[in-house]
Amino acid sequence: MRELMRPFKTLVNMKSGQLNPCRHVIERRLSDMKGMYLDAQAYSRLLNQGDKLIYKVYEVDVAQEAGQLIYCTTIIYPGKVGNEYFMTKGHFHLKEDTAEIYFCLQGEGHLLMQARDGQVSFLQMKSGTIAYVSPYWGHRTMNTGDKEFIFLAVFPGDAGHNYRAVEDRGFAKILVEEGGSPQLKRNPKYVAEPE
Ligand SMILES: [Fe+2]
Repeated sequence: MRELMRPFKTLVNMKSGQLNPCRHVIERRLSDMKGMYLDAQAYSRLLNQGDKLIYKVYEVDVAQEAGQLIYCTTIIYPGKVGNEYFMTKGHFHLKEDTAEIYFCLQGEGHLLMQARDGQVSFLQMKSGTIAYVSPYWGHRTMNTGDKEFIFLAVFPGDAGHNYRAVEDRGFAKILVEEGGSPQLKRNPKYVAEPE
């Protein structure tokens, strides 16, 4: 009989978002986000000033297999490329019929979701918000506040990450600051899914 995995706990620092212990830390810098922002000139200008840290992920050490739940904390730093907010790369799950929970710990942000058929869903998040990403929806988060936006994510161990789908097509909408508040706009660079 297979040996049982022992129960365990971790501690999250509610202010910094740091998870302890964690398996690994992922850092995404501006250079990792090439082509993801609409304003390519603003992107180059900002990159010339230094390769800023856009977000950081602390992930727990749990096997990536069915039956497990993986969780991680994400810290998105405040800032914009042109007028588009700092955001995560965004992904679909490789196993698309899997959901995810996002629980906001600090700051303010938005969760943008998109289905393969072009439907878009958009949720504002603040400390205490629990968002449910339903199966089949690609998802991306953005920091729309002036402090760090920190949330915990929980997803099935076998969900996997498909970043390519977003790298190739983008999201149908982008979130930009206009008149001092976040506005959802059509992304002219979006490549729609074939019928
Ligand atoms: Fe996910």
